[in-house]
Amino acid sequence: MDFRDVTQDLKSDLAKVEKAINENYKSDVPLIPGISSYLMNCGGKRIRPMLTLLAAKLCGRDADAMVVKHGCVVEYIHAATLLHDDVVDETTVRRGKETVNAKWGSDASILVGDFLISRAILILAEDCERKIIQAITEATKSLVEGGILEYAEARKIKVNEKHILDVIYRKTASILSVSARIGGLLANATEQQETAIISFGDDFGMAFQLMDDALDYDADEKVLGKPTGTDFKEGHVTLPLHHLYHNADRKLKKEIEAFIKNENINADDVKYIVGHMHQHKSIDYTLNLARYYIDRAKSHLRKADFPEPKYIEYFDAVVDYIHSRHTAPSSTATVK
Ligand code: FPP
Ligand code: MG
Repeated sequence: MDFRDVTQDLKSDLAKVEKAINENYKSDVPLIPGISSYLMNCGGKRIRPMLTLLAAKLCGRDADAMVVKHGCVVEYIHAATLLHDDVVDETTVRRGKETVNAKWGSDASILVGDFLISRAILILAEDCERKIIQAITEATKSLVEGGILEYAEARKIKVNEKHILDVIYRKTASILSVSARIGGLLANATEQQETAIISFGDDFGMAFQLMDDALDYDADEKVLGKPTGTDFKEGHVTLPLHHLYHNADRKLKKEIEAFIKNENINADDVKYIVGHMHQHKSIDYTLNLARYYIDRAKSHLRKADFPEPKYIEYFDAVVDYIHSRHTAPSSTATVK
């Protein structure tokens, strides 16, 4: 089973999520549905709602209206973070299309993001499931903290790997993990099942962002749908750059220190640094760490008894799809 089989099998459930996504951003303020519709039809993969649907199914609940609307909630929160993140990162292209901030301006991007967050909370309030509201708002708090931490520590080459992984956990793993967790909660998962799903989501989220960080330096822009080198230009010290810096000779270290302070990095600078990353196996190191989290993610789901264990294979396919976005490395780099 691969990712295409998963989307094919979930086709009618994902269509219900899509319907909910497109119905819930209605507003008599025309700019809101206008921008939301543009954003929601820009070709997102709907990984988070997919995790909600799959976790519910794994725990024995079908993709009924309740599960579907929670899929919509997590996608709205995700969309809002991207709207805000693209303002912070001054991104102009995402998923191969102009970003909302590039097309309508930063104010519109921030405010529509705020609308989607409000809408998500309103949907949650319809049922007042305390555990679910708490889980989602905690994850949202964590991802905002991650965004702020990353911004506050930008252009500081001396950050350590623990800090980098902490930012990844907060900004990406938290929301991916809770997306799966609420599927389990809606299906009355046992404590053992819920723990396995949370651990899966945490590790999957770590792998997901590590892949993104590797691809930010090393991908075909047309395939990636967004420009490469954004982290470097923004001075975000992600794992590939951290690894390179710590394995660089004194001359290269000085060059990296100068680059990271420079707000006018050009394409040649990115190319130069990517060349060194290949030479020092910094991309491979990052991909190998992603592989480590992927293997661990898969193992967690095998530690609990689930009513519908056949869905474990579906999770595996989603996880493998994330890793397949980059050609497997031939590195000897080890995971610290
Ligand atoms: C993408 O990372 C950014 C995030 C996953 C979250 C950042 C969080 C915020 C900006 C806070 C906003 C929060 C809310 C609730 C509205 P990236 O820049 O590495 O990924 P990218 O390359 O896809 O942009
Ligand atoms: Mg960004």
